[in-house]
Amino acid sequence: MFFRITPGIDPHTHAYITTGKVDSKFGLTLVDGIAQRVIRQTLSCESLDVKGLHCHIGSQIDSLEPFINTIKAMVRFMASFKEQNNFVFSELDLGGGLGVAYLEEQKGKYPSIQDYVEAIAKTLQEECEKYQYPLPTLFIEPGRSIVNDAGNTVYTVGMIKEIPGIKKYIAVDGGMTDNPRPILYGARYQAIVANRIHQESREIVSVVGKCCESGDVIIQQTEISPVQTGDILVVEGTGAYNYSMASNYNLIPRPGVVFIRDGKPYLVVRPEGWYDLVRRDILPEYLIEKGE
Ligand SMILES: Cc1ncc(COP(=O)(O)O)c(C=O)c1O
Repeated sequence: MFFRITPGIDPHTHAYITTGKVDSKFGLTLVDGIAQRVIRQTLSCESLDVKGLHCHIGSQIDSLEPFINTIKAMVRFMASFKEQNNFVFSELDLGGGLGVAYLEEQKGKYPSIQDYVEAIAKTLQEECEKYQYPLPTLFIEPGRSIVNDAGNTVYTVGMIKEIPGIKKYIAVDGGMTDNPRPILYGARYQAIVANRIHQESREIVSVVGKCCESGDVIIQQTEISPVQTGDILVVEGTGAYNYSMASNYNLIPRPGVVFIRDGKPYLVVRPEGWYDLVRRDILPEYLIEKGE
């Protein structure tokens, strides 16, 4: 088994996706020796096989420094635990967290997977040498950095509302039900109009969803080709989390998922229908008795 630790590192990302600071609902805190005491108690339990430590400091992290500091804090703790309890953790899981660019202007802002792997492997070796600690097997749990660019969300444009001198709203047949990230923590996206990709002209619009919430805005202000009802709007970079975070908010059926390989589409998750929304409903007995 592994113990999740909060190493007290601030990854400088949005508060809602920060998970490894001292003040966090996740993991065992190092404060007041709490993690140390819990692990020590577990070691005395013969039926549990303690393998290592785990941490995950947050997501959408845009520099290597927080990962390096996390390894330093974790190895420091492992070494002091060994000193006091004569126990060596053979495995260390660093979680995920490497960020990705969602917007053109963010390209190059995030470390590459190669730089990230080199930095964490090097730091782990150096820290273990420093404390004369046996090198643990290092695990990582990358999510977004390996799958986000693989997915896009395809919408059909519905209503268009222009308020002269103020804003142009483009409503699509989805919204915070298939992408709650903008309303949860102000995530930003860019989009293209697939059937007008070669058009030169541009206009600034806000892309909004169909939920009964003013906050149901997928992109606040973005520049796209002039759009008309029925156009196909593609929001880029939705391969991570969107499918797993999708909901039936406002009782809206969730869309399907299509994989594309060599230009050929494969439906891998069927879209929900209205039946899916009522399939858990139970008719109360008093209605059955009355034949209603
Ligand atoms: C424990 C744990 N590991 C890994 C991940 C993946 O993180 P990311 O997609 O930021 O790489 C998460 C995401 O929330 C997580 O909670």
